[in-house]
Amino acid sequence: MTNIFKSYICATIDTSTDMLCVALARVTPCEGHAQVEMLASFDHTCRRRANIELVPTLEKALDEVCLSVDDIDAYLVGRGPGSFTGVRIGISTAKGLACGANKPLYAASTLDASAWTAWKAGVRGLLGVAADAMRGEIYPALYRLDDTGVERLFERERVVKAAAAVAEWSELSDADQLQLTGDGLVRYGKLFDEAGLTNRVEQDLWWPSSEGLLLAATSKEGFATRGTGDPALVLPIYTRLSDAEENERKRLGNEVKTSEALTGVADTLAGQHLQFRPMCPADAEAAALLEAASFPGRNAWTANMFLSEFDADNRSWWVAHDMGEILGFAGGMIVEKDIEILDVVVRKDHRREGIARKLLAHVSYDAQMLGCQTASLEVEQNNAGASALYEALGFTPVRTRKNYYGPNCDAIVMSAHLPFNLPQDNESPEPIALTREWPLPVPHREPAEKKLIEQCELTMAIESSCDETAVAIIDKDGTMLASQVSTQIDFHARFGGVVPEIASRKHVEAIAGVCDAALEEAARSLGLSCALMPSELAAVGVTQGPGLVGALVVGVAYAKGFAFAASKPLITVNHLEGHLYANLLTTPDLEPPFIFTLVSGGHTMLVHVRAWGDYVVLGETLDDAVGEAFDKVAKALGLGYPGGPIISRLAAQGNPKAIDFPRAMMHSHDYRFSLSGLKTAVITYIEQETAAGRPLHIPDLAASFEAAVFDVQFKKALNALRETGAHEYCLGGGVAANPHLRELLIRKLTREKVRVTVPPQNACTDNAAMIAVVARRKYLEEDFASFDIDADPNMTL
Ligand code: KG4
Ligand code: ZN
Repeated sequence: MTNIFKSYICATIDTSTDMLCVALARVTPCEGHAQVEMLASFDHTCRRRANIELVPTLEKALDEVCLSVDDIDAYLVGRGPGSFTGVRIGISTAKGLACGANKPLYAASTLDASAWTAWKAGVRGLLGVAADAMRGEIYPALYRLDDTGVERLFERERVVKAAAAVAEWSELSDADQLQLTGDGLVRYGKLFDEAGLTNRVEQDLWWPSSEGLLLAATSKEGFATRGTGDPALVLPIYTRLSDAEENERKRLGNEVKTSEALTGVADTLAGQHLQFRPMCPADAEAAALLEAASFPGRNAWTANMFLSEFDADNRSWWVAHDMGEILGFAGGMIVEKDIEILDVVVRKDHRREGIARKLLAHVSYDAQMLGCQTASLEVEQNNAGASALYEALGFTPVRTRKNYYGPNCDAIVMSAHLPFNLPQDNESPEPIALTREWPLPVPHREPAEKKLIEQCELTMAIESSCDETAVAIIDKDGTMLASQVSTQIDFHARFGGVVPEIASRKHVEAIAGVCDAALEEAARSLGLSCALMPSELAAVGVTQGPGLVGALVVGVAYAKGFAFAASKPLITVNHLEGHLYANLLTTPDLEPPFIFTLVSGGHTMLVHVRAWGDYVVLGETLDDAVGEAFDKVAKALGLGYPGGPIISRLAAQGNPKAIDFPRAMMHSHDYRFSLSGLKTAVITYIEQETAAGRPLHIPDLAASFEAAVFDVQFKKALNALRETGAHEYCLGGGVAANPHLRELLIRKLTREKVRVTVPPQNACTDNAAMIAVVARRKYLEEDFASFDIDADPNMTL
């Protein structure tokens, strides 16, 4: 047969295990599979240094075969399962590479890669891959290998106790034929031996290899599952939820009522914003009532039917609630690799607010974490509204069930690939269909447009230190051309704070889409005919620290891949400096020396900025940060997370003099702060009032709490200004978004002849515009980073 397909250069990456896989290969497709010719392979063991070594290793591989990054036509990444962080490093870097180069990114299961690694070495017959999942668990996978290739004998990757896999495999009728491989054998090999499962493939084959990954992705079966090439849609295979979510599900399954202690959110008070949480048995009655009211005449779900759902562990049900009332719910059942959406209901007066979409986001997120690749549902033929929503999420009709909903009323069965197309724009209630081709069409630029772009010297920056995935683009004058922020608040709120593992997962999910949205937004700001290409940027900045290490790693890995593939300088930014530089967005002529107050969720400090980059930290908090105090007080009041915006909204209607809370360290004659005493005082006050049977006046309480915090902030800032003789003052960090703090400082310090700058309200809480401003300055100084940097969670000013 003549080969009509063109061969291409593919770079492979897998960092799911201690084996860092990086290789270059020539792939020649032919009739549903492909031939693989390895060009350079740099697979090597590397413990915990994947983020440091990955891009430099790719660089080395390119050098070896005298190719440049532009010669790479496609990327391939291992999706795990494996170490969560390891998988995320590989996938984030690969997404960055593919987005930065505008090339396709394909993906394959790391377990399949291990099986193909054995196949390539000549192993044939029944093969069990026991991949290490840590904590006494493994990812088990069974394959049959023959001369034609590798056949998967399981549907969906999963995680089990090592002992359970041993028991399962010992019971196979052909257990005596079973050969074992996988890095789980290092730790749990003895367990297998004791059960008589002693056949092993050679130990140097126990890890995945680049060639194995390539063979898996280019096999007949692999072709079908390797994805569309759109990097935004490539996600890790986790096989389980985060511990926090697992524990919550277990408790809900045990029919424990959701309680304030459990979630940090008292239902009756949680009316400050819409909240989402998994459905629990106590919701069954309300859900049944809402269902009956929404679909009169339909064979509706009853309370008992909902209750029976909690016994099954392959289910995911979510409710949306406000002021303790259920506004909607959705649920589904996992069948092999598909989540069947069983029900989606939103109360009539709350339709078209995006609630259904958010509910489905939660259900599908669970399904995806548990290994599903598709979702399916049935919709009534005449329900145009629902059909439109589902189509926008990526569902397409697959077949019709005649007269399913009664005579002449068919059901349309629809199916979609996970993840759903979800809008990055949190303001928009309905999803916008993400029907894009990838790679993106390369724009044809008129010379005038080209010149404009060049003159702008565009800096893009990425921020992922906590629970916002953000990408921004500024021009050479520091003008914000794009600032995209995708918040994960809905996913953390029910835990009363940020869950690091969820944060890391959501960053990986969002980062490519947020980046694309920023490139589009900047193009609109500049009046360009189509989106900016990575090659049209001047530099790429990224937050290196401080923050949650697992969250930072995603941004850093993505930025490295992106900058490397687009051949742009990489610039690392200190997040705290970002909060400071946010002030340049409002006052571009701000010049040191000045006093700077940083008040965020993680930091409270008063800084004497003597020159740019020359910081004297006058004092910090001895315990809680200001934002943290807001969050803890809100949690104690059952107001939900994050506390700052909720408390400031309530405080606007309260009397700040109503309760005299302590002003800790107000007269300590230094610049240190302490907030834990105040937090305790507030909690004691709540307890006393509740015990005495007096109703709490929450607005007064919120206003009085704010006043106690802000009085101290003002006093110490004033002292610092007087002591240093500075005439400029500025503010930064999430709490700087608080209107009362801004107003108080501007009013009182202006009276002291001090010029006060506050960042734009939307650049106070975490964002990437402020990171871009720092990156721009470092760009001018040619202060570039190398590709072996890693996240630094403990960075200081
Ligand atoms: O800077 P940021 O977004 O993240 C960190 O780097 O920590 O700050 C988040 C913090 C949260 O604790 C949040 O409650 C607080 O900023 N915050 C506010 C307001 N908006 C956000 N605190 C008081 N008033 C606000 N309006
Ligand atoms: Zn911050």
